[in-house]
Amino acid sequence: MERQVRRSDDDPRTAEQPDAIPILSVAELEADPHGVFRHYRPRMPFVAHEAGGFLVLRSRNVEQLMRDPRARATETAYPEMRGIHDGALFDLFEHGMLTANGTVHRRRRSPFTRTFAARLIEDLRPRIRATAEALVGSWMDEGEVDLVEHYTALIPARTIAGLLGLPQADIPHFTRLAYEVSRVLSFAFGPEDIPDLQAAAGELKDYVARLIEERRRAPGDDFLSRYRAEAEEASDLSPLEIIAQIVQLIIGGTDTTRVAGAMQVALLLQHREQWEAVCRDPALIPRAVTEALRFEPSAASSARLTQEDIALDGHVLPAGAVIILSTMSAMRDEQVYARPDVFDIHRTDHPRLHPVFGGGAHRCIGEALARAELEEGLAVLARHLPQLRLTGAMPKLQGHSGIRRIDRMCVTSGTPRMLRATLDAGWPQTMRLDK
Ligand code: HEM
Repeated sequence: MERQVRRSDDDPRTAEQPDAIPILSVAELEADPHGVFRHYRPRMPFVAHEAGGFLVLRSRNVEQLMRDPRARATETAYPEMRGIHDGALFDLFEHGMLTANGTVHRRRRSPFTRTFAARLIEDLRPRIRATAEALVGSWMDEGEVDLVEHYTALIPARTIAGLLGLPQADIPHFTRLAYEVSRVLSFAFGPEDIPDLQAAAGELKDYVARLIEERRRAPGDDFLSRYRAEAEEASDLSPLEIIAQIVQLIIGGTDTTRVAGAMQVALLLQHREQWEAVCRDPALIPRAVTEALRFEPSAASSARLTQEDIALDGHVLPAGAVIILSTMSAMRDEQVYARPDVFDIHRTDHPRLHPVFGGGAHRCIGEALARAELEEGLAVLARHLPQLRLTGAMPKLQGHSGIRRIDRMCVTSGTPRMLRATLDAGWPQTMRLDK
């Protein structure tokens, strides 16, 4: 049903538009984001968001605005729009690379480009695979497991801990905080949640500050020790900037890949013939990862701030607006993808650069790492647990912007040992699967 279009002279977000732009509520966007995007995308290039700003829906606009100098990183405009004006959360936006522009952005990002370069990440694959194998070995004989908690969360957490030199024993602590803080990048929080988000951001910041202080007193042969020394000795980055980059890497390096890792398995198990194809032919794995990231992305958008009025397909994005470039909508754009609402690992119409990792100067620094983790994680499951299946309902990703959320994803590994136990318990002969 067509929504009632709101037009009001006192609302700066609608007053200047040639055709009124609807203002969408968080509730309707959260209830069915794909449905909402599918409805509006052919009708208008963007919609307004009740929490402020605009959601840009079409692939060509999203791609263009990622690189357009008239749409810069938001600096502190996004937290301010959401009512966050100080504290540890605000510091993350003020001092981190994700929201910085120009030379400030380059200074903050460049110390990491070598560590995360695709060439070097390739060398990590055997370690990532060994982590995945060890995890599968730890639960494959159990009945039902939550794949998020016992697998897809732990692969990126252990890998980023290894890369940055964070103690493995700290994983439960820093991942809990990272998942909490990452909620700030979605619209799925209200003013009542801000104290909790601030507390988690404060704890994460203190945790990283303590680690950096320890490395100052007793430097080791790890990334954090080298980074701290280089960043401080070059007097290039302030102590707060040093902390903020590590915090952003912890958040970026854990939550997005945890969610994507679970969703790709869920989608394949839901489309059993595609799961079986992947199990038969591991060469399909990179395609499966790419398609799952398109179909149900773990990161739904990138935020920018317009520097001037920007004309877009007959409408005008006003200057000074926070715009949410919805890659989630763009990746179902029927102008780009044939049958966009069909999950198909064999599709050949993916753009060369995957939109889920953003674009322009802020394109994800962890793309190669994320792909290595997702591909290796999937390969290990396909190789060892071809009988894997969902035991509960298909998990749903929540969220329409920023990092999306997943709850649990229960699976059974269906290993021979389990099957034997089941058979021993008296299943009828006709149901025997090991014959
Ligand atoms: C499936 C997994 C991932 C997805 C979908 C994803 C998505 C994104 C997107 C869309 C951006 C750009 C945001 C913008 O344009 O404003 C981004 C930036 C970033 N990502 Fe990722 N990411 C993933 C994995 C990772 C990993 C594993 C790391 C850790 C190394 C990471 C660290 C970062 C950082 C630090 C930035 C900021 C880069 C900058 O501003 O220059 N991400 N990511």
